[in-house]
Amino acid sequence: MDLEAGRPIAPDMAQILKGRRMRRNRRTDWSRRLVRENTLTVDDLIWPVFLTEGEGRRDPVPSMPGVFRLSVDELGAAAEEAAELQIPAIALFPYTGPDKRDAQGSEAANPDNLICQGCREIARRVPSLGIMTDVALDPYTSHGHDGLMVGDEIVNDATIAQLVNQAIVQAEAGCHIIAPSDMMDGRIGAIRAALDRAGHEHVQIMAYAAKFASAFYGPFRDAVGATAALKGDKRTYQLDPANALEALREVELDLAEAADMIMVKPGLPYLDIVYRVKERFGAPTFAYMVSGEYAMIEAAAANGWLDGERVMMEAHMAFKRAGADGILTYHAPRLARRLAAG
Ligand code: PBG
Repeated sequence: MDLEAGRPIAPDMAQILKGRRMRRNRRTDWSRRLVRENTLTVDDLIWPVFLTEGEGRRDPVPSMPGVFRLSVDELGAAAEEAAELQIPAIALFPYTGPDKRDAQGSEAANPDNLICQGCREIARRVPSLGIMTDVALDPYTSHGHDGLMVGDEIVNDATIAQLVNQAIVQAEAGCHIIAPSDMMDGRIGAIRAALDRAGHEHVQIMAYAAKFASAFYGPFRDAVGATAALKGDKRTYQLDPANALEALREVELDLAEAADMIMVKPGLPYLDIVYRVKERFGAPTFAYMVSGEYAMIEAAAANGWLDGERVMMEAHMAFKRAGADGILTYHAPRLARRLAAG
């Protein structure tokens, strides 16, 4: 302080900064736009959609405000909305009631299951839209696990045979991207070989390569009816949240087994994995901002604790900054509308 004048003495900033001022580029909107390093566009989005039996149904998912389980006819309308918004692809997930679940997850390989009906409906109404389908048994098993059980064990190799059947019926129904989310060893190679043998060599595979045993999947399990069914947890097949190097080895294996694209899941808590995977392999890398992440943002916004729209934009930009080529997100239609408005 300059005690006599009673005001602070300006330090010699010219001397300190030697002309370097980081804030110079940030002063105006046009300049901030010029120096912006990453952009988020609608081309980055895949929209996960839940299906349910029936007609004209839009059943709200309680733990995911703004998300609905749609009957197949309503899926057609959602597909048209996606196309209007220019969202490149939709990912389908079925709600299966206890009556259609069994120990083998037989419904997974039913060529007329909800997912296959959904694929045909989208292909009929919006043939230009990309269709992605999940391969894993948890929506169909009475025990809620992604694989088959022998005693307490989720058995690997026998599960793969059933996953292959599931992938084939989906490809026959017209899906474009098969997305195995089950975390069994060797499933990418087995599914690739089976698809090729069946003449589906153009069907792409997006491997849930680094999928962690996460509590952030809670609302999703409600949405697909797996919460009540699930016995125990998935830690013998999904990754330990403590491990990053193991995640890189999973990605390496899935790419070696001819995965076309790989995914990290969940999203925001695992951005370090997204970054490392993209740096290391340079392959098309996707992140899944999962149900629990969506629920957190929506719950805080509903309470007035966060500006939901701005947090939504910032969270999705973070994926781009980390190196993701795209994001699976329940916010997809809202983001797309927001991005179109400029
Ligand atoms: C099924 C599957 C899960 C998710 C996608 N596919 C749940 C799980 O592994 O328990 C989670 C998606 C989300 O939480 O949004 N294997």
